[in-house]
Amino acid sequence: MCGIVGYIGNKKTENILLDGLKELEYRGYDSAGIALLNNDKIEVFKALGKLKNLEQKVKTNHTYHLGIGHTRWATHGKPTELNAHPHLGEYSYVVHNGIIENYKELKEELQAAGHKFVSQTDTEVIVHLFEFYNNKLNDCKTSFQNTIKRLEGAFSILLISKSCPNDIYFFKHGSPLIIARGNEKEEVLFASSDAPLIGLANEVVYLEDGCGGVASAKRIEFFDEKRIFWGVLPTSKQFAQKDGYRFFMEKEIHEQCVVTSDTMLGRMCDEKVDFEEFDSSIIEGIEEIKICACGTSFHAGLTASYLFERLAKVRCSVEIASEFRYKEPLLNKNTLFIVISQSGETADTLEALKMANKEGLKSIVVCNVDNSSMTRIANYSVLTRAGIEKGVASTKAFSTQTVVLWMMALYFAQYKNSLSIEEMNSELKALREVPKSLKVHDSTHEKTKRLSKRYLHGHGFFFIGRDVFYPLALEGALKLKEISYLHAEGYPAGEMKHGPIALADPELFTIALMPQNLLYDKIKSNVEELSARDSTICAISPLDFDLADDYIKTNKYDHYMLEFFEMLVVLQLFSMEISVRLGNDVDMPRNLAKSVTVE
Ligand code: F6R
Repeated sequence: MCGIVGYIGNKKTENILLDGLKELEYRGYDSAGIALLNNDKIEVFKALGKLKNLEQKVKTNHTYHLGIGHTRWATHGKPTELNAHPHLGEYSYVVHNGIIENYKELKEELQAAGHKFVSQTDTEVIVHLFEFYNNKLNDCKTSFQNTIKRLEGAFSILLISKSCPNDIYFFKHGSPLIIARGNEKEEVLFASSDAPLIGLANEVVYLEDGCGGVASAKRIEFFDEKRIFWGVLPTSKQFAQKDGYRFFMEKEIHEQCVVTSDTMLGRMCDEKVDFEEFDSSIIEGIEEIKICACGTSFHAGLTASYLFERLAKVRCSVEIASEFRYKEPLLNKNTLFIVISQSGETADTLEALKMANKEGLKSIVVCNVDNSSMTRIANYSVLTRAGIEKGVASTKAFSTQTVVLWMMALYFAQYKNSLSIEEMNSELKALREVPKSLKVHDSTHEKTKRLSKRYLHGHGFFFIGRDVFYPLALEGALKLKEISYLHAEGYPAGEMKHGPIALADPELFTIALMPQNLLYDKIKSNVEELSARDSTICAISPLDFDLADDYIKTNKYDHYMLEFFEMLVVLQLFSMEISVRLGNDVDMPRNLAKSVTVE
C-alpha cells in the first residue's frame, strides 16, 4: 500500500512530486524518495520517516522536467534509506507498488549475470532486469516490455532511464495506477490514486490490469490502445482519499478483498505455505503457543487459538495483554510467544512481549507496521500488509491478521504432519478463496442499511456464536460498541443459558452467527431457546431459519472460515450503518484513539 507519483512538464518537478506524495502519505510513510532526470543528469533524494524529512533534503540547483516519486510502507526489507524507492540500476530508476513474487529467482539470475544489488527489496530486480535487456538491445521499449513479461505478483511501476531521458515507462498489474494529461501544455502526470492529480489535471485513465506504455511531453503511447478509456477526475480531495466512499471505515471494509491477497502473496506456494520471515526451526522443541494482544487483535488471536489446536495440534492459549502483564505468569521456555498488534505500539502488548523476551521465549509479532516498537524487539516479525488503516474501528487489520495466523497454523501443521494431504489441500483451497469471501455484496449492504433502522431501539445486543464464530461474535459486538455507543456483548452461544438468557425480551437483539459448516445444529438450538423467550433475533446464515425475526443470507461455502470472513463483512457493515443512522463520527468515534500507547 505504498504511493507513487510521476511528472513530465514545465513546472518545478520536485515540488509537484513532493506535493503529490503529501496527498498519498496517508497510505504509508516509513520512507519516501524522488528521482529527477534531465538528459544524462539524475538526482535522487531519499529519507526515512515522514515526508517532511524528504522535503528538507530536496535541494537542487538544476531544472528538471521529468521525475518519479514514492512513499513507502515496507513489505520486503526493513524501512531504511537503502530500501526506500526509487531504486537504481546503473543508469535507470524505478518506483513500484505491490509485490514481485518471483524476485528471488530473478535476483539470483541477475546476480549470476553480474548485476550488483544494494537493497533487500523485491523492487530492485525490476530496474536490473530492465538494464539487463537494454544493455543487450539498446531499446528501452522492448526492454521494458521484456521486463514486465518476467514479473509475477502485483505491481504498478514507473521507470525512467538515462537511455531514454524524455520518457516515463509505466505499467499496471494488480496495484492501482492513473495517468493524466495535465492542465498545462505538454504535461503528463501519474499517481497511484486520484488525490495528487486533483487541481492539476482533468483528463485521466484509470489503467486496467495488464496496461502500460511510455509517456513523453509530446506523446502518450499505450501498449494496448483498445483498453484505454479517458475519463474525468473527481474534484474533491477528501472524496479522492476515500476513493469515493463515505468513510475510511467503509473504504477499508471494501479493501479487505484486495489486501488479504497481498497478505498471501509469496506465502502460498503451490501446495504449501511458506514464510520468508522464519523457517521450520521456529517450531522445533515448541510444546505450546501463547498469544497475547488487545481489542480486535485479541479477537484475531482467539480465532487463531482454535486453528492452531485444530490444524497444527499445538496447545494454544490466548491472553489479554493488560491482564497477562500483572498476573505473574508462569512461562515455559518451550512456549512460542505470539503477539498481535496492528500498530505495533500498544503499550500492554509491547510490555507482554518484553516479558516473554526476558524469559528467553521465542517471540513472533504479527503486525501491520514495520519498524514499530514491536517489530524491532520481537525475534520474528510477520507483516500483515493491510496498508494504513485510518478508521479507528479496525476492519482490514483484523481480516489480514486472521489470514496470517491461519497460514501460520498451516505452516506448523506442515512441520508436524498433522494434516493429511487431502485436508491440507482443502485448507489451502479455502485460504485462496478468502479474498472472494470478503467481497462486499450490494444486496447484503442494502439489507444491513434497512435493518439498521429497526435495530436502533433496544436495550442491548447479544452477538452469539460457537467455536471461531465466538471470537467473531466478540468482534461484531466490539465494532458496534465502538462506533454506535450502544451496549453490545459477544457471547459463546452455549453459555447463554448459564445466566445471560435472563435478559431475553423483545427489546434484546440477538445477532446469531449460524454457519452451515460448523456446529449448525448446536447454535440452532441455542437460538431456539432465545426465540422461545421472545428475544428479537437476526440470523446471519446461508441456511433459511424460520424462527429468526430478521435474516441476512450469506453465501454457501465448503469451509467454515470462508463463512467466517463473509460474516465478518456483514457485521462490519451492520455496525457502520447503525452508526451512520445515529449520526456518529464513523471514522473517529468518541473517546478512542488509533494507537493506545499508554496503559
Ligand atoms: C478496535 C480496535 C482496538 C485495537 C486495540 C489493539 O476496533 O482497533 O481494539 O485492536 O487497541 O491495537 P493494536 O492492534 O494496534 O495493538
